[in-house]
Amino acid sequence: MKFFIDTANLDQIREANELGILDGVTTNPSLMAKEGIKGAEAIAAHYKTICDIVDGDISAEVISTDFKSIVEEGKKLAAIHPNIVVKVPMIKDGVKALKWFTDNGIKTNCTLVFSAGQAILAAKAGATYVSPFIGRIDDSNWDGVELIAQIAHIYQVQGFETEILAASIRSALHIVKCAEAGADVCTCPLEPILGLLKHPLTDIGLAKFLEDAKKL
Ligand code: E4P
Repeated sequence: MKFFIDTANLDQIREANELGILDGVTTNPSLMAKEGIKGAEAIAAHYKTICDIVDGDISAEVISTDFKSIVEEGKKLAAIHPNIVVKVPMIKDGVKALKWFTDNGIKTNCTLVFSAGQAILAAKAGATYVSPFIGRIDDSNWDGVELIAQIAHIYQVQGFETEILAASIRSALHIVKCAEAGADVCTCPLEPILGLLKHPLTDIGLAKFLEDAKKL
């Protein structure tokens, strides 16, 4: 399973990248706004900086909602760097645009996916990645990880090549469960990634080893 970091914060991206386990980055308009990035030029420059830090797929989300504008905006985003993946919302014009990008050799990430039906449409349109938002599904008292397993099963049975990018991850346990359920990628903030490191027996064991090492 690939690891993407879900943030537009450059310090966190650098920290995750320095761990040596980072395969890419996802962003969205909310994450860009959180970093105070404003205006087309600043947005493009920020994506370029991210691409210079991480050698992997970098999702850049369109904010247009009609076919023609999504395509125009996506082409501009894709021109920033070869690693840019155009992130397109799961709406009717989004599906049309996904197919256009597929036919024109531009990588895509279909975002805001909350059902298996939407994931089938994204795969039919040739999306490179499909992003089911598991944390938001959990928030609505449903089981987000169950959706990952369902999509993984459907894609396997049908031979779809779209990669399942588990998004809206809130905890280290989510990452483990998504790996188990067949996600190809998980994208999450830095904290759940670092959470994978933690186990009290590791801390107790290391303290004891270091204590005993003094006797050597
Ligand atoms: C995915 O690509 C989204 O950017 C993200 O995972 C959404 O997460 P949230 O539900 O925590 O906002």
